[in-house]
Amino acid sequence: MFPADRAITGVRGLDEMLGGGIPKGRVVLILGSPGSGKTILCAQFLYTGIVDCGENGVYVSFDEGKPQFYREMAKLGWDFAALERAGKFAFVDASPIRSLPGEVKIGGMTIGKRDFSLLSVIQAIRNHSASISAQRIVLDSMSQLTFQYPDPVERRTAVLDLIDALADLGATCLLTSELVAVGMRRKMQFEEYLVHGVIILQTMRVGKAYGRVIQVEKMRETAIDEQPRPYQITERGIEVYPRETVF
Ligand SMILES: Nc1ncnc2c1ncn2[C@@H]1O[C@H](COP(=O)(O)OP(=O)(O)OP(=O)(O)O)[C@@H](O)[C@H]1O
Ligand SMILES: [Mg+2]
Repeated sequence: MFPADRAITGVRGLDEMLGGGIPKGRVVLILGSPGSGKTILCAQFLYTGIVDCGENGVYVSFDEGKPQFYREMAKLGWDFAALERAGKFAFVDASPIRSLPGEVKIGGMTIGKRDFSLLSVIQAIRNHSASISAQRIVLDSMSQLTFQYPDPVERRTAVLDLIDALADLGATCLLTSELVAVGMRRKMQFEEYLVHGVIILQTMRVGKAYGRVIQVEKMRETAIDEQPRPYQITERGIEVYPRETVF
């Protein structure tokens, strides 16, 4: 039995690496290369939360619309449309922020696009979470938001505001972001310092072959398995092999 203060992810091998799951109420970053399974991992976390734990969930999409998300997840056997009809799941489409005009007029006030998008995203998350009493929230992918802030100080402030707003809601939250690698070396990303936990998904060269590798970089309140472990994406979602070594 997993401890009550943990939100199981639904990926059994990952839950083992995390000593039972993600500490409830924490904000965790899923960093990954393109196609590494960030969206699938987040959907598995939400689906497990609703179906196995009775914890309702909100998915905030900055990339895809609802029909695409529902179709892709249905292929893995996860019927989010039914969960939405049952009032257990909400999809927030935040993808329009990518194409907002430079300034937005509200009442007599003009505010910049970036501040408007951040405020409106936070407000939409609050509303939807309250309407279904969500205990799990996913933002996928946060890169779409951070790309709007070329200035590092402003970017850091915006992400901190977002994390604070999420932490205030008390739900267990996953944020995804693009992994930035320079050649073989990975660059530490500023978000990693701001969140409570970081999980990295990437493809690594092992001997002559390439394989998918997952690593828990940090997790507050948790004695983690820091070793990179192999994982696969299958028709049932993500599978992690916590007893296999990579090197
Ligand atoms: N049924 C399946 N069997 C095996 N692999 C699958 C299956 N369905 C999807 N995949 C793999 O999952 C990957 C896509 O996963 P996902 O969309 O979660 O990645 P992502 O990290 O969110 O990507 P992006 O950076 O584009 O958002 C694809 O690269 C594909 O190889
Ligand atoms: Mg994705």
